Amino acid sequence: MVTALLSLSLSRLSLWALGLILAVGFLKFIRLLLRRQMLARAMDKFPGPPTHWLFGHALEIQQTGALDKVVSWVHQFPYAHPLWLGPFLGFLNICEPEYVKAVYSRGDPKAADLYDFFLQWIGRGLLVLDGPKWFQHRKLLTPGFHYDVLKPYVAVISESAHAMLDKWEEKAREDKSFDIFRDVGHMTLDSLMKCTFGKGNSGLGHSRGSSYHLAIRDLSVLMQERLSTFQYHNDFIYWLTPHGRRFLRACQVAHDHTDQVIRERKAALQDKKEQEKIQSRRHLDFLDILLGAQDKDGVKLSDADLRAEVDTFMFEGHDTTTSGISWFLYCMALNPEHQRRCREEVLEVLGDRNSIQVDDLGKMTYLTMCIKESFRLYPPVPQVYRQLSKPVSFVDGRSLPAGSLISLHIYGLHRNSAVWPDPEVFDPLRFSSENVCRRHPFAFMPFSAGPRNCIGQQFAMNEMKVVTALSLLRFEFALDPSKLPIPVPHLTLRSENGMHLYLKSLGPGSGK
Ligand code: HEM
Repeated sequence: MVTALLSLSLSRLSLWALGLILAVGFLKFIRLLLRRQMLARAMDKFPGPPTHWLFGHALEIQQTGALDKVVSWVHQFPYAHPLWLGPFLGFLNICEPEYVKAVYSRGDPKAADLYDFFLQWIGRGLLVLDGPKWFQHRKLLTPGFHYDVLKPYVAVISESAHAMLDKWEEKAREDKSFDIFRDVGHMTLDSLMKCTFGKGNSGLGHSRGSSYHLAIRDLSVLMQERLSTFQYHNDFIYWLTPHGRRFLRACQVAHDHTDQVIRERKAALQDKKEQEKIQSRRHLDFLDILLGAQDKDGVKLSDADLRAEVDTFMFEGHDTTTSGISWFLYCMALNPEHQRRCREEVLEVLGDRNSIQVDDLGKMTYLTMCIKESFRLYPPVPQVYRQLSKPVSFVDGRSLPAGSLISLHIYGLHRNSAVWPDPEVFDPLRFSSENVCRRHPFAFMPFSAGPRNCIGQQFAMNEMKVVTALSLLRFEFALDPSKLPIPVPHLTLRSENGMHLYLKSLGPGSGK
């Protein structure tokens, strides 16, 4: 009798649970439909390519390559056009400077639909924060990117670059092309670890440093795969998959490392002797700056905030420069004449010195123009997203209501033929001061613009110049025509088949 009653109430309970799940699912579906309707209505004034009711533009993008497809749409709709990723996620994809200015000169929040994927790893650091807390953090962290703080990093970056270039000497002797992307990634992560924690992969105590290094590299790849796999978008489903569990394990390694380094540094700051040691070091690292940061009322960053900001730097600061350096070297291989001119300029600036100092960087004007031209054609961050906090009106009178989603397609903007004549041609003179003055200030956006621009851009430009100058001094770069890179927009701009180049060593004494 009792068993029968129990099984009856259990089956009733399961019916109730099923009913509840269906009701919640139904409500969620209705919410998504209403949102779709809102987004579609907001964008109906903007013509665009035909869209599939279920897949939106996702299939077309997958079949023909996201970047080429979007560039062809940019030629057809040179201001903006709707872009649907599946049935419920619709953006106005903008690619014209006045349109970009209307949105990016304001401080609208990031589009949570996409940036929330980052939370498990980098927490609520500068990249994803909004409102007064973002403003407070941005103010506290800005001094960390001051010229004087960045100055000593030139030596740190050179050291990591030389380690990579030494390795390339051996590879160059094999007289075969090889994929430079991996080595560049290893080098930028090593130098960023040194600038953030004071120690790179080699110095952190063998297993701890290298497992962190591996975890960060793993996380970047897993995150890219998650974003491009529709089935992984729901958190609940994702954490149940082997992919999701691997992501969680890598997050744990990264967080444990960051927490431990913070704990150790805090403990060291309590100890007078250690404190003196830190002060007598040749430079402060980002962690020192973060630990010392306080607002006018003396309020410091909490431990969770510290971890989020360190993890954000590690995420934002190495994949981006890896992409920038690799595509730059590809552009040099593709354009030997510009490669030669850059090398000559570096030799002229350094004279008989064999190391780079921060003051040299400002004198490398041709190299800087070539870096900017490679950022134009191959922007390391190809697309960024916002959600409007208030309505926006564009220059042609069209407008969008609050809540609309915006995608700034940096890759598309930089190849918009209405903005850049002969957009596919590599021409560094586009960045001569006369030509820059004549151009719209929102035409070139590798670091985004406005209040939410890249806080690390000066660091990134220094790193780009140091690494590329040293590389050009030691090697000549040439294409492997059988393995040309295919750009793909992951979180950063990568190449589907790696970045295979031939390297010819310029002989002893060419760089060091
Ligand atoms: C070539 C290298 C780099 C490029 C092209 C680049 C590009 C960008 C872009 C486009 C944004 C805006 C992102 C968005 O709106 O979603 C951004 C934001 C950011 N970047 Fe960079 N970045 C680079 C290097 C770095 C480095 C080296 C660091 C730090 C060490 C860094 C730290 C950040 C942070 C913290 C933000 C968020 C800023 C905020 O919202 O206040 N970036 N970056």
